[in-house]
Amino acid sequence: MSMKILTIFGTRPEAIKLFPLIHALEADPRFVSKVCVSAQHRAMLDQVLAIAGIEPDHDLDLMRPDQSLNALTAALLTGLGRVMDAERPDWVVVQGDTATAMAGALSAYYRKIPVGHVEAGLRSGNIHHPWPEEVNRKIIGSIATLHAAPTETAAQALLRENVDPQTVHVTGNTVIDALHWIVARSEVERGLVSGLADLEARFAGKRIVGMTSHRRENFGQGMRAIATAVRRIAARADVAVIFPVHLNPNVRGVMHAELAGLDNIALIEPLDYPHFARLMAISTLLLTDSGGVQEEAPALGKPVLVMRETTERPEGIEAGTARLVGTDPGRIVAETFRLLDDEAAYAAMARAHNPFGDGRAAGRIVELLAAG
Ligand code: UD1
Ligand code: UDP
Repeated sequence: MSMKILTIFGTRPEAIKLFPLIHALEADPRFVSKVCVSAQHRAMLDQVLAIAGIEPDHDLDLMRPDQSLNALTAALLTGLGRVMDAERPDWVVVQGDTATAMAGALSAYYRKIPVGHVEAGLRSGNIHHPWPEEVNRKIIGSIATLHAAPTETAAQALLRENVDPQTVHVTGNTVIDALHWIVARSEVERGLVSGLADLEARFAGKRIVGMTSHRRENFGQGMRAIATAVRRIAARADVAVIFPVHLNPNVRGVMHAELAGLDNIALIEPLDYPHFARLMAISTLLLTDSGGVQEEAPALGKPVLVMRETTERPEGIEAGTARLVGTDPGRIVAETFRLLDDEAAYAAMARAHNPFGDGRAAGRIVELLAAG
C-alpha cells in the first residue's frame, strides 16, 4: 500500500526548498503526495507554486497584512489540525523554521503523526538571532522522528541535543536541487529570465550588487542602518544595487522611505525564482540577511556579505564565500568596497563551492521516508 505524505509549507523559501521533494514524491508510485499550504505568504508563495507547477490540495489562505506571530500561529494550529484530521497522513513533512513549519510539527505531534524535518539541525545558538526561527527549529527538532540534516555540522548539532542518532541523516540541502533545476530550465526557456533585461541595459558597465533583506530582528534600527549602508555603496558611480524588496510592510516602509528615487538603486518587486537566480548570476556580490541566499551564493561562486550578527550556516563562511558583517553601516560599506576594489580579496571569495549539497537531497529524503 502506498504511503501518504502530507507536505506542509507557507512561505517563499519553504516552497523553493520543498518543490524538489514534492516533484520526487509525485513521481514515485510508493507514495500518495498531498500538499497543504498555509499561505502565510501569498504573492511570494504563489510565484514559486506557479514556476514549480504545484497545485496544493489544501490552501488555508492565512496571510493578513502585517500579521502578528500570535494571531498567525493560532490560525495555523487550528487550520492545520483540520487538514490533518481530514487527510490522516502516514507522515507530515515540514521544512526549516517558519511559523508554519513549527505549527505543522506541533499539530502532527498532537495527533501522533510522525514528522519528517527537512533542513534539520540548523542552530545559531542564540534564541533572539534569528528571531523567532531559532526557537521554531528547536521545537521541530524535539518532535521530528526523521531529521534530514543538510550538512554534517547540522547533524552534529542535533546529536548534541541528544536526538536519537538513528533518526539523523545527512542529505544535503534541497535548495541546491531547486537551484540546479531552475538554472537548467532557464537555459532552455530563455523567456523565464528576460524580465531583467531593462535593468541590465540601464546598469550596463556598472558592477551589480544584488541585495535582499527581511529579518524580523533587524526591523527598525537594523533596517535603517542597512539602508544607510546601501545609500553609501550606491553613491559610487561604478556600482548599481538591485534590491527586490520583500513584501513585509516593516521592510518596505523603511527601504522605500530611505532609498527610493536614487540613481544607482533599483528597488523592485520580489522576483520569481528564475529571475532571482539570474540576478545572483549577474551580481558581482550579494548583500543579504536571507538564509536561502547564503546557501545559493556559494554554489554560484558569488561572494555574499551576510548582514546579521550570527549565522546558523557556518559552512559558507568556512568555505570562504560568505562573511558575517552585521548591520553596522561602516562595516557593511567597508567590506563591500574591499570586495569591489581588492582583486585578491574578491578572487578569494569568488570560488564555487557546494558546502550545502550536491543537488540530490530530495532523492535521499524520499528513500528515508520510504524506509520509515
Ligand atoms: C517569514 C518567516 C521567516 C522567513 C521569511 C521568508 C516566520 C515567523 N517568519 O517572515 O522565517 O525567513 O518568511 O521570507 O515564519 N507579505 C505580503 N505578501 C507576501 C508575503 C508577505 O504582503 O506574499 C507581508 C504581509 O503583510 C505579512 C507580512 O509580510 O503579514 C509578514 O509575513 P510573515 O510570513 O508573517 O513574515 P516574514 O517576515 O515574511
Ligand atoms: N528569492 C526569490 N526572489 C526574491 C528574493 C529571493 O526567489 O526576490 C529566493 C532566493 O533565491 C532564496 C529564497 O527566495 O531561495 C530566500 O527567501 P527569503 O530570503 O525570503 O527567506 P529566508 O531564506 O531568509 O528564510
